[in-house]
Amino acid sequence: MSAGVKTVRVDLGTRGYDILIGEGLLARAGELLRPLMKAGRSRVFIVADANVAELHGGTLMGALEAAGYSGHLIGIPPGEDSKSFAYLATVLDELIGLGAERDDLIVAFGGGVVGDLTGLAAGLLKRGARFVQLPTTLLAQVDSSVGGKTAINSRAGKNMVGLFHQPALVLADLGVLDTLPARERSAGLAEIAKYALIDDPAFFDFLEANAAALRGGDKAALAEAVRVSCASKARIVAIDETEQAERALLNLGHTFGHALERANNFQHSLLHGEGVGVGMAMALRYSVQLGVCPGQDAVRAERLLNALGLATRVADLAGGPYVAEDLLAHMAHDKKARNGKLTLILARGLAQAYIQRDADTAPLLDFLRSETAS
Ligand code: GLY
Repeated sequence: MSAGVKTVRVDLGTRGYDILIGEGLLARAGELLRPLMKAGRSRVFIVADANVAELHGGTLMGALEAAGYSGHLIGIPPGEDSKSFAYLATVLDELIGLGAERDDLIVAFGGGVVGDLTGLAAGLLKRGARFVQLPTTLLAQVDSSVGGKTAINSRAGKNMVGLFHQPALVLADLGVLDTLPARERSAGLAEIAKYALIDDPAFFDFLEANAAALRGGDKAALAEAVRVSCASKARIVAIDETEQAERALLNLGHTFGHALERANNFQHSLLHGEGVGVGMAMALRYSVQLGVCPGQDAVRAERLLNALGLATRVADLAGGPYVAEDLLAHMAHDKKARNGKLTLILARGLAQAYIQRDADTAPLLDFLRSETAS
């Protein structure tokens, strides 16, 4: 691999794969996909949203052509609404209509919505086709493109219908982040901060020291942050691929965050990463309220999140309304709930997250009321 490109391995035996991180990977996609192409195959099916296709589609198509492959683009509208049964059917029908077979390669080219939808379509196509993640947002590069969770949303909530289906390769091209709006960059930084808050104090120090650079899009700082984040996720996924235990830690901030997103009907006024940012701050504050986490650790976590451009208080969020009783009801629909009991990811301090099963709802409701009182 050329200088500057970092490789992180997701060690899952025969289903293991590499995550390549660096600049210019998109322009080299043909050459990088070659080891995955089956003999006699030259077609690559690409699922992308309109924004990504317009900004970067030409580079990807050119790279495939230069390698002797033909790219077939399937477009979906940008936005969370595309993670639906309707668009799952559209993508599958288009793939089948174009003659896609299990031995062909499907590429998810976009952010988390495209990755989740395409991965699910690939997992279902003819009982499972291989796919490659080509994430174009920071959030997708450090979280959703890695680990094989694929899903669409249902009326009951986010990611309610899905499969574990691992990609065959992840290409995280840092160059595409140049076109990412600052707000989306901060949303990605929330997921990056998550890895530090789970169990990596040295990474927390790195993020504190480099918060301004990361927020400003500095490539060297981002490259290191993406590498450490992917390595952290790869390690947890390799231990617990299907989330029987440890993988639940990766949901730090997500139970609170998903409830906020749901209360806002998944509208663009609250991005997933923004919900996770407030959700992590809430998880730490709730841990302080329960007496398990020192108050100064929650304050330091909040300061880091603010420095990364993220809100940490419900009152500072756009959208809503955010009502305590509604949030608790949404949290009860979380996929981690078992026998109707909530599972929360809490913290004993910075970089000391833990899984709390059978969480009591009465103190949680009091907490939510205090968090949402304006
Ligand atoms: N985004 C959480 C996970 O992949 O497990």
